[in-house]
Amino acid sequence: MTASLNIMAINGPNLNMLGTREPDIYGADTLADMEAKCRAICEAEAATLDWIQSNGEAEIVTTIQQAVGRADWIVINAAALTHTSVALRDALALFPGQKIEVHLSNVHKRETFRHHSMISAVVDGVVLGFGPMSYVMAIRGILEMAREAE
Ligand code: DQA
Repeated sequence: MTASLNIMAINGPNLNMLGTREPDIYGADTLADMEAKCRAICEAEAATLDWIQSNGEAEIVTTIQQAVGRADWIVINAAALTHTSVALRDALALFPGQKIEVHLSNVHKRETFRHHSMISAVVDGVVLGFGPMSYVMAIRGILEMAREAE
């Protein structure tokens, strides 16, 4: 049991379209499917999971600010903002808890503009390339680390 562990999962632009969005790259699962899997894992461990998706940079920055003092961990798939957003990087840098960057696809196998992440330098870990399983791996990794720290 990892009681009272609070995880905030943040999903960026266009991830609300998973399921129909470029299925050859991202697969057929919807974001709701991924949320359900992560929620089931968290419930079994008595951890809380907040799950948000936004297409807006400002909303995501505000969400990270509001997570200070509330969330222990942030799991973030910043989607396209990964490659562009200094504001997002700065928001993650001010969050004192631990942070995991997630991507469904292996961005390093794709276009060169996806090879650079603005946020990798301010997070604790990165999971990418496992499709929907990337989220599950991040959540399981967090819970395992919390268990070891008990
Ligand atoms: C993504 C990869 C990004 O380059 C892209 O802009 C996305 C999704 C992924 O999960 O593989 O929207 O973050």
